[in-house]
Amino acid sequence: MPDPFRHYEGVPVLDLPADPPAPGTPAADGPTFLSQLLFYSAAISATKRVPSTGFRYALRVNPSSGNLHPTEFHFLSRGLKGWPDGLYHYRPSSHMAEQRAIGDLTVLDGGAPLVFILTSIAWREAWKYRDRAYRYCLHDIGHAWQALALAAQAMGCNTVATGDFPDDEIAQRCRFHADEWPMMIVEISGDSVPLRQPETRETVWYGGQPNQLSVEITAYPLIDAIHAATKLCVNHESAPVPTASAAFRLPHPGASSRTFGEIARARRSALDFVGGTLSISFAQLMAILGTTRDLFSFVQLYLYVHRVDGLDPGVYRFWHARSELENIQRGDQRVAAAGLSLGQELAGNACVAFSMIGDLERAAREYGDRGYRYVHFEAGAIGHRLYLAAEAFGLGATGIGAFYDEEVHRYLHLTPEQGQVVYHFAIGYPVRDPRLQA
Ligand SMILES: Cc1cc2nc3c(=O)[nH]c(=O)nc-3n(C[C@H](O)[C@H](O)[C@H](O)COP(=O)(O)O)c2cc1C
Repeated sequence: MPDPFRHYEGVPVLDLPADPPAPGTPAADGPTFLSQLLFYSAAISATKRVPSTGFRYALRVNPSSGNLHPTEFHFLSRGLKGWPDGLYHYRPSSHMAEQRAIGDLTVLDGGAPLVFILTSIAWREAWKYRDRAYRYCLHDIGHAWQALALAAQAMGCNTVATGDFPDDEIAQRCRFHADEWPMMIVEISGDSVPLRQPETRETVWYGGQPNQLSVEITAYPLIDAIHAATKLCVNHESAPVPTASAAFRLPHPGASSRTFGEIARARRSALDFVGGTLSISFAQLMAILGTTRDLFSFVQLYLYVHRVDGLDPGVYRFWHARSELENIQRGDQRVAAAGLSLGQELAGNACVAFSMIGDLERAAREYGDRGYRYVHFEAGAIGHRLYLAAEAFGLGATGIGAFYDEEVHRYLHLTPEQGQVVYHFAIGYPVRDPRLQA
């Protein structure tokens, strides 16, 4: 397993104040603001201890396939009060920022005081998931985007996300190590960002020496090829990219006394769900689905309903615009849902499991090969909303990247024009994980 943490060594490292206030409390200065934002979107939020070996490992606010965390958070700051302008890399292992450059960086145009660049290190996933790892990297970016955007929103900020930029140009300007690929840019602005008078200072680069993640790296030519095929170059013609309004509201303010901050940090993936007779209500299901509605561009949700009060077991399609469920197959789906999810029992023990069907053809017509990334970002983003909404109701959830693609298409009678399965998900009552330590 490669080192789970990327560091740029040999650069100044800036502390982010410990125990930042909850997102609803305005931050008085830049360091507190950054600490708050990252504490509720990307920081370590729990550990697990393996009883047989005593080995401990970290879990973060944003979920990640296999807990391998291919996503790195970089940010450019301009005019934050009490914080030098520059380019930084977030160091989650110690909740600090590595200062890679200071001064006026012309890495990106636009006036936002804070701009995140999310990168993927595909090797982190590929050593385990091989060629399929590229998809997981894209899902993880979708999750990280929402983790960041929703924390920013809870802090009273606006975010604009885009995947439309020239890859190599951005990588070069930010001097990313060759194993880090820029995937998404998220601008953060708003009245609650504590600002000072802008200053002009010449750029000084510290750069930093990226740590070596593994002694040896295995090449995955298919991953390199799909990444290259989905790149944009400097003079590309840009099409307006789907960006969600990020108008996220937790379901039923009355249903949970927990705040966004508590929910974001308590979110965990269920290892398995309690099967049997425990069910969720129809209202809960619709409220959970309702939190995803502004995200849909290319993805359709199919539900394997096992135990939802007032809904017969069966397969349903969610029509997000009308907030309606259409029954398309009747009968017990537990064996099918688990079987399609690579035999993972949790998809059968959940109250409801999901197949996210992405219209990759349409995405490619609208955005060229780049559209492949956008569909997976969207699926990850929908998954992230489902995680938080389930958590708000005291339920558990798990993203499921492992499934049998062709079997899902056959089972749902999908024609190629209707799309392809891009992500699975499950929601239910989580079994307790004895390894978990808050
Ligand atoms: C894209 C993605 C795919 C995942 N696939 C699976 C899966 O197939 N099976 C599973 O049990 N968990 C899966 N997970 C859950 C991760 O294992 C989990 O997020 C990780 O262990 C970190 O734990 P946390 O979510 O509690 O922070 C997936 C998560 C993501 C984001």
